[in-house]
Amino acid sequence: MRLDVFMTPAEAIPAEVAGRTVVVIDVLRASSSIVEAMASGARTIFPVTSIEEAIRLANTLGRDEVLLCGERRRLTIEGFDLGNSPGEFTPERVAGKTLVMTTTNGTASMAAAAGAARVIVGALLNLDAVVEELVRTGAHPVFLCSAREGRFGLDDAVTAGRMIGALVEALPDVEWTMNDGARAALALGRACDGDAAALFAQTAAGRQLADVGLEADLAFCAQVNLRDVVPVLQDRSITLNGSA
Ligand code: MLT
Repeated sequence: MRLDVFMTPAEAIPAEVAGRTVVVIDVLRASSSIVEAMASGARTIFPVTSIEEAIRLANTLGRDEVLLCGERRRLTIEGFDLGNSPGEFTPERVAGKTLVMTTTNGTASMAAAAGAARVIVGALLNLDAVVEELVRTGAHPVFLCSAREGRFGLDDAVTAGRMIGALVEALPDVEWTMNDGARAALALGRACDGDAAALFAQTAAGRQLADVGLEADLAFCAQVNLRDVVPVLQDRSITLNGSA
């Protein structure tokens, strides 16, 4: 079976993702926040790439009916209801709600997955749930790391690697054909299998979050298998079963 990792969205050319299951990873923090929001009972999330598009969509849907969320330079966008800290997406805030979200890298990488047969959102928070879904569907998966403004991110690569490690372990009889990114991620995941919060603190993304006082998010995003949900992106919106 084929298994590929793309370390940046630019690598995910349409021919490579067409017809496949793509796991989008932005562990710091967009995919962690999406997992948390869905686990907290959010009805649907519309990921969009720009602030203007987010506001336009919120107005179309009815500004009072939606929560605008996301970040620029890691901080809550002016006039938005929530930022991009997973801990903000509590049941009290988001249960039953429609969210419109824009983040710097995470929502852009979801756009890069257009053309995939299926797009799911992965983080350490839902690692086993994603792996079980890949096993269940017999997918030849692509792991798409959101990276940081087009540059390699160790946090996403290690998360992909840990997922691949669990997938390979769950399917011991499968012969995998992996691209170089997948082999590198697998090696990184095995080498960095300790406390993910400590690793995150050393990454560029982690340092940037700490610089603005958001280091608590690193510990939150480092939790493994806290949530048993698989967010699915379909027709521009994310739900738990892919049918808004
Ligand atoms: C992003 O999508 O760029 C990230 O999630 C940035 C952040 O940490 O908010």
